[in-house]
Amino acid sequence: MAAASTSHEPWWRNAVLYQIYPRSYGDTNGDGIGDLPGITAHLDHLEWLGIDAIWISPITVSPNADWGYDVADYCDVDPALGTLADLDALVAAAAARGIAVVLDLVPNHTSIENPWFVDARASRDAEHRDWYVWADPAADGGPPNNWVSSFGGPAWTLDPTTGQYYLHNFLPEQPDLNWWNDAVRDEFDRILRFWFDRGIAGFRIDVAHMLVKDRELRDNPPTDDTDDWIDQIREQRPVYNTSRPEVHDVYRRWRLIARQYDPERLLLGETHVPDLATLASFYGHDDELGLAFNFPFLFSDFTADGLRAIVDATAAALPADAWPVWTLSNHDVSRAPTRWCAGDAERARCALLLLLTLRGTPVLYYGDELGLPDTAVPVDRLVDPVSIMYQPVHNRDAARTPMPWTADAGAGFTAAGVEPWLPFGDLAAYNVAAQRDDVRSTLHFTRELLALRREYDDLRVGDFVDAGSFDNVWTYRRGDRLLVVLHLGPEPVSIPMPGSGRVLLDTHRTRDGECFARAVEIEGWRGLLVALD
Ligand code: NOJ
Ligand code: CA
Repeated sequence: MAAASTSHEPWWRNAVLYQIYPRSYGDTNGDGIGDLPGITAHLDHLEWLGIDAIWISPITVSPNADWGYDVADYCDVDPALGTLADLDALVAAAAARGIAVVLDLVPNHTSIENPWFVDARASRDAEHRDWYVWADPAADGGPPNNWVSSFGGPAWTLDPTTGQYYLHNFLPEQPDLNWWNDAVRDEFDRILRFWFDRGIAGFRIDVAHMLVKDRELRDNPPTDDTDDWIDQIREQRPVYNTSRPEVHDVYRRWRLIARQYDPERLLLGETHVPDLATLASFYGHDDELGLAFNFPFLFSDFTADGLRAIVDATAAALPADAWPVWTLSNHDVSRAPTRWCAGDAERARCALLLLLTLRGTPVLYYGDELGLPDTAVPVDRLVDPVSIMYQPVHNRDAARTPMPWTADAGAGFTAAGVEPWLPFGDLAAYNVAAQRDDVRSTLHFTRELLALRREYDDLRVGDFVDAGSFDNVWTYRRGDRLLVVLHLGPEPVSIPMPGSGRVLLDTHRTRDGECFARAVEIEGWRGLLVALD
């Protein structure tokens, strides 16, 4: 499935993935909302760039309380985004370019408008009642336990019709499914097969660590100052509503299904857990998730020592047969060029060099290839409920704005004069067309790096050996001959080299091809990929 497959290993180990936020990639019918034909229309860009697979954030039917992450129908396309026929056309057009299509699956919760929940809340003996998590009020009439929603406030809402509370670890519009119910498990087996049979190459699994909750619904214990910062904000350790041991049964079951397909289908978990041992557990014994997202890496400081510590600890924590996955940005966090790089293009290229030279599967977020920073979305244009609640501290809309294809009216995203669903950023500063015309651009840098990944097996599957950090410079080897020198600080330094060699790619692009002997001088905020003789 991936163009660069060199071994019997699963295709995703050789692949570069690229996340698309479907409402923001290309709008073909002039309603200001990106759609599936709009992704198909831009496949040439992805092929030119060298992408092996796209992961598209949810495209299934949704009333959009949480922009697609509240699903009303798991087996159809949301009308704002297109039709199943549009999806089939996208999958076929992508396959013709050697690009696989991965979708987003949201199994932890549905929409309140999902017919299962509409039925479940109608009466205590409804057919789908036990598909959700219901509990009687506490003695004082309050929620059944102390669990808090990931978005703040109690994780329970009282449903007056039947006098019980239902669980929602996110918005009240996102009721949690009851994964203790075999009918739910059977239904999701069917959903997986429905999409896999259509040629979908795999799923990114939303809040993969959360599906199964404590059967007794026990209270979570309080945090102390050793806990993860997110848990400290929520003032409770999520012992009983996340990462329960029984969740692993679900992934063992799904992996068996994924392995019935050729090529095997990818299960990529949004394993939003703070510690690497728990993260490692989601790989099982090569019989659970194929890839599990690494949030400690995403939330690291952008320093040589901070990143190095997490990358080395990840290598130590993961089982030998597990394969890491790395990402700089996604639709829930500030983009790396803003969060890590203070908007500085040189630093953004250092981040890309890191992402694309670590051992593991890299996932680019649309716009990463341009070094695209966050967009300053005015408060009256915010549409994400979480951004509305938590801006300016936490603003997800800033990273979800339309892809800037050109600097023209409509940005090549939509027709001129159409107001996009979220505003454009600074089109003159960042757009695909201008960067394609400039061989020194971040776009060309990213493309060169992807080409080098195809050319050098060591960049994809070679061993990773940490070669040490010196002040703000981190060096690591891939395979026997490739070395990455990453300088995440301002002052020029001289780095001793194990021998002579040649620069394959320089983040500034002025030293490509340069030969060196026993040392390399490296300027501030610069990275080099070098081949040793
Ligand atoms: C994680 C998704 O990435 C995020 O966008 C969403 O709000 C929550 N899960 C709830 O589905
Ligand atoms: Ca549209």
